Amino acid sequence: MAVDIKSPREIELMRTVCHLAAETLLLVGEKIRPGMTTDEIDRIVHEDTLRQGARPAPLHYKGFPKSVCTSVNDVVCHGIPDGTVLRDGDIVNVDVTHVYEGFHGDTSATFYVGTPSPHARHVVEVARHGLDLGIAEVREGARLGDVGAAIQEYVEAQGCSVVRDFVGHGIGRKFHDAPQVKHHGKRGTGDRLRAGMTFTIEPMVNIGGWEVDVDPKDKWTVRTVDGTLSAQFEHTVLVTRTGVEVLTARSRPLRNSENVAALFVA
Ligand code: MF3
Ligand code: CO
Ligand code: CO
Repeated sequence: MAVDIKSPREIELMRTVCHLAAETLLLVGEKIRPGMTTDEIDRIVHEDTLRQGARPAPLHYKGFPKSVCTSVNDVVCHGIPDGTVLRDGDIVNVDVTHVYEGFHGDTSATFYVGTPSPHARHVVEVARHGLDLGIAEVREGARLGDVGAAIQEYVEAQGCSVVRDFVGHGIGRKFHDAPQVKHHGKRGTGDRLRAGMTFTIEPMVNIGGWEVDVDPKDKWTVRTVDGTLSAQFEHTVLVTRTGVEVLTARSRPLRNSENVAALFVA
């Protein structure tokens, strides 16, 4: 499928919606605490999105019942907010997608609930840096395989694995568009990147094996087969002549995620 090149006007709308999604994720970070439920995260995201004049893209998307995905511990992605209480030591990925003026902005982060275990810190920091390394490959003329390879090489060198069954995606008027952005692969392969493309990079990193299962009951919740922890970070990016613009870049540090890592630097 041909990959859409955004016009300057479309790029401006992508900047706007992506900024709004990033602001909502920052707000979530300020609210994370042990004892809260994932339904409370859903409410925070839902209300903040509407307050901005945007709409939460997950709500009713292919039947998804809530306004955000909340994926706790061994949940890899697409966790459905419910009455689950977050406990000290849990990790939770919150995946926010807004629609504004017909365009989508998609971003997620994994938060520490209270004080993380060494294992939790490891998988979260590997996922965070893996995304950064993938983004660093993006420029006009680079290949999608370069992005996947950079992520996979690093994640596996850290003793973790990259989920294969879910990928990043083109984004714009559609939530999920071409191209598929794999988080593993071979350098020098795959589609060539062109200025004006917008897509997400969103590596899911497991501390154990990469195999995952979809919950047979709710048909959404994706878990690691071996029950070990999984973490994920996601940005929406724009390919430019000179490199990359991270459209969901944050205007300040993310509470209960970025700041906590700094506390543990030896
Ligand atoms: N935000 C997810 C992504 O990064 C997709 C969630 S689809 C939903 O692509 F229906 F679960 F919300
Ligand atoms: Co996405
Ligand atoms: Co997302």
